[in-house]
Amino acid sequence: MKIEMEKLIAHLKSMGFVFQGSEIYGGLANSWDYGPLGAELKNNLKQAWWDFFIKKNPYNIGLDTSIIMNSKVWQASGHVGNFNDPLLDCKNCKSRWRADKLIEEKFLDLNVGGWSDTQLEDFIKEKQIKCPKCEKCDFTNIRKFELMFKTNQGVVEDASSIVYLRPETAQGIFVQYKNAQRTLRKQLPFGIGQIGKSFRNEITPGNFIFRTREFEQMELEFFFSPNDSKDWFEYWLNQVQEFLDNIVKISKENYILREHDKEELAHYSSRTVDIEFKFPFGIGELWGIANRGNFDLSQHQKVSGEDLTYLDPNTNEKYLAHVIEPSVGVERLLLAIFCQSYKEEKLDNGERIVMQLPVNLAPYKIAILPLQKQQIDKSLEVYEHINKNLNIACTFDEKGNIGKRYRRQDAIGTPYCITIDFDTQNDNCVTIRNRDTMEQERISIPDLNSYLKNKLS
Ligand code: GAP
Repeated sequence: MKIEMEKLIAHLKSMGFVFQGSEIYGGLANSWDYGPLGAELKNNLKQAWWDFFIKKNPYNIGLDTSIIMNSKVWQASGHVGNFNDPLLDCKNCKSRWRADKLIEEKFLDLNVGGWSDTQLEDFIKEKQIKCPKCEKCDFTNIRKFELMFKTNQGVVEDASSIVYLRPETAQGIFVQYKNAQRTLRKQLPFGIGQIGKSFRNEITPGNFIFRTREFEQMELEFFFSPNDSKDWFEYWLNQVQEFLDNIVKISKENYILREHDKEELAHYSSRTVDIEFKFPFGIGELWGIANRGNFDLSQHQKVSGEDLTYLDPNTNEKYLAHVIEPSVGVERLLLAIFCQSYKEEKLDNGERIVMQLPVNLAPYKIAILPLQKQQIDKSLEVYEHINKNLNIACTFDEKGNIGKRYRRQDAIGTPYCITIDFDTQNDNCVTIRNRDTMEQERISIPDLNSYLKNKLS
């Protein structure tokens, strides 16, 4: 089913997943806040990534580095001077556009990632691409627009106090690579991952939470010997797909793999494959897997003067490790999950919206619903047992008719509803309703533990 973004966004707002940022002040363009259920879901997603890539992977360890770093980090990484977008202004209506996006939005099969400014300008003129606002084709030449947010640290505002909000979490890992390796006594190959906020002053943010100026990344930098014969790129490409297929349950038919051609590769990469998701507004990058070689470590070694080489205990050789980087945005993955989970269904007795979230990501796994006031005490007992003793995220809802309460739980993606009714005090059983099939089963309370363990594992 093709979903409409407006409907999805309205649903996520009305259910407490995503709110417009600074809403009571008229909002702030393209900023979004995560409501009570969005925050739970986001935490579950980050936890799933951390479990899979850090805790359960035999090679990897985690880090948590600062957003604001020494400015030399960004000179070494190439971000100062290179991390910019090609902008042009419409001479007629004075609106400002990204040249590459103007072309790609008109010619959907074209990828102009590696084109020079002159190529972009010439193509726009030759094809007479018009300003989306006033429909004239009369643009200025391209100017470069710096994407890093710049500010000053401390009380003095001069060149020496300039700092940047990090545009990627990766550099924090490269800068602490040696400390992490030494203190944990890691031998190659090993990886370091982290989750954290990144900031980019994007010219064309949009498509809801797809491209924003403040977002979170989950990045892994995997270090290995340049003499290692194992194909680590293929290994991580497979791991990412395993995570998508089995942990967050993105169906294979909803994404594609796209290999970057030579002209499109970033300055640090010798190979990049993007996993692209079929969003309702078009295919877009979800997860990038790049071979960064030893670009970052050699740059940081050069600029900092610190020896970042690795002494191979097997060969006694000293060399700089090479790196494979799988990098994904939390919100972009969340959007893919929202798009895939949101379903509008016609029923015999009406219709419903159901979020078919994977069980591990759902904000609540279970809702406890007493049928009437008389069953509240017994219901609270079951609720406390599941929430506290079994440590399963559980909600309690006693208000409104049972049909409406089921609909609300469907709409927020709760996989199971447990109803305590008139018969419970006689037969010590509850009714369990499945979100997706809407089928109901009668289960005795003493069997609940093993039933839930089995269903939620
Ligand atoms: N360290 C490599 C790096 O940052 P990237 O392709 O620029 O590479 C990696 O970003 C991922 O971060 C993207 O695949 C996307 O999921 C996410 N991302 C990048 N820019 C974003 C933005 N403005 N808003 C939301 N997510 C973004």
